[in-house]
Formats: sequence, structure tokens, C-alpha cells
Amino acid sequence: MSRPLRTVTVNGSYSTPSKTGALIELITDQIASTREIEVRRIEVSTLGPGLTSALAREDLSAEVRAEVAAVEDADLVIAGTPVFRGSYTGLFKHFFDFVDQYALANKPVMLVATGGSDRHALVIEHELRPLFGFFQAATVPVGIYASAGDFDRTTLLAPETYARIEIAVRDIVPVLDALTAAPATAAVPSGPGRPEGAGATALH
Ligand SMILES: Cc1cc2nc3c(=O)[nH]c(=O)nc-3n(C[C@H](O)[C@H](O)[C@H](O)COP(=O)(O)O)c2cc1C
Repeated sequence: MSRPLRTVTVNGSYSTPSKTGALIELITDQIASTREIEVRRIEVSTLGPGLTSALAREDLSAEVRAEVAAVEDADLVIAGTPVFRGSYTGLFKHFFDFVDQYALANKPVMLVATGGSDRHALVIEHELRPLFGFFQAATVPVGIYASAGDFDRTTLLAPETYARIEIAVRDIVPVLDALTAAPATAAVPSGPGRPEGAGATALH
């Protein structure tokens, strides 16, 4: 007996339409071709002062707090951002600054980025992976990067990126199988540096 995969996507783009958003959609489509999923899409640029004026979690608007909680409760997080000045966007980081320190522990997180050129493709390894390493997240080994030249507006043209999406999703099929077979409320085991009761859905 399996249940839908609760997937939350976070797009750090400030643009509409967004190439990063288009890339994230291709990933959710690929996952949807393998199983039933529920997708909640978070666009940080639309969250407004409820996010941007907050300096502490209690300052967040109720709407933004609910979005942060959705990330914490997800089975799978797809975290995508355009490259801004060699890193993730400021609002992307500001949003994740309010996610509980232990809520992503062991949670699968797919890393996605787009940039103006291929020269910043390693932003996934040098910026995004360390951030989610802090959270003790189970980042998916294959990151997905595309540059502006790979798109016609928001249509991805690069066959190698489609292939990479397939590989990234195929690699985590056993994890997704385990997540959707497990009860939704299972808690991650506590460990050193991770207080009792804190954490996300257990993978193992
Ligand atoms: C303020 C700003 C800074 C940027 N810095 C970089 C950069 O350092 N490296 C890069 O490859 N592209 C950079 N870009 C280009 C964007 O990353 C690129 O256009 C991206 O695909 C936009 O994604 P979006 O359509 O999802 O917003 C920058 C764009 C802006 C607006």
C-alpha cells in the first residue's frame, strides 16, 4: 500500500516566467511518470514582506510560516535557484534561514540551478550542497544545472539535461519507494547533535 509522494519545490528566482521554475517542473514531471505525487510549489519572490521583513521565525506571516512548515514536512524537497553573483539568490537563502535546523535531516533534497552560462555549473556543488549539508539532508547525488543557452525562453532544448534528470530521478527510486510505502508520520531517529523528536521522515 503506497501513498502519494509529498513533494515541495522551492524556486529562488525573482522572474516570471522562470527558467529555474521550468527546470523544476521537468523534474516533477519525471517523478510523476514513475509514481503518484502531490506537488506544492513555493516561489520565494511572491512571498512578499511576510518573508522579506522577517528577522526571526516568529516575524514570518502565517502564510510564509505555512510554506516553511510544508518544506519541513515534505517527503522530497526540490530546491532550485538561479545563480546570482556566483551563488543562490538572497531570498532563497533567507527562506531557508527559517527552516528548522534538524527538519531536513535524512530528507531527500534535489538540487537545481540555472545560470547565464556553463561557467557557474558548480554552484550546485560549491554553494547548494554545503547549505543542505548543514541541514544533514540526503542531497541527491546528481544535481541538475542548465544555462540560458540551453533554453528557448522556458523550453529546455538540451537533450543531455533531460537525460540527467532521468538519471537523478532513477537514482532515488528506491528511496521514493520506501518513503511512499512508509506511514507519513514516521520520525527520523535522533542522533548526536539532533535533539529527541526533531527531524523528518525516516528513510532507513
Ligand atoms: C542579479 C543577477 C545576478 C546574476 N549572476 C549570475 C552569475 O553569477 N552567474 C551566472 O551564470 N548567471 C548569473 N545571472 C543570470 C541568471 O542566473 C540566469 O539568467 C538564470 O537562468 C535566471 O533564472 P530564472 O529565469 O529562473 O530567474 C544573474 C542574473 C541576475 C539578475
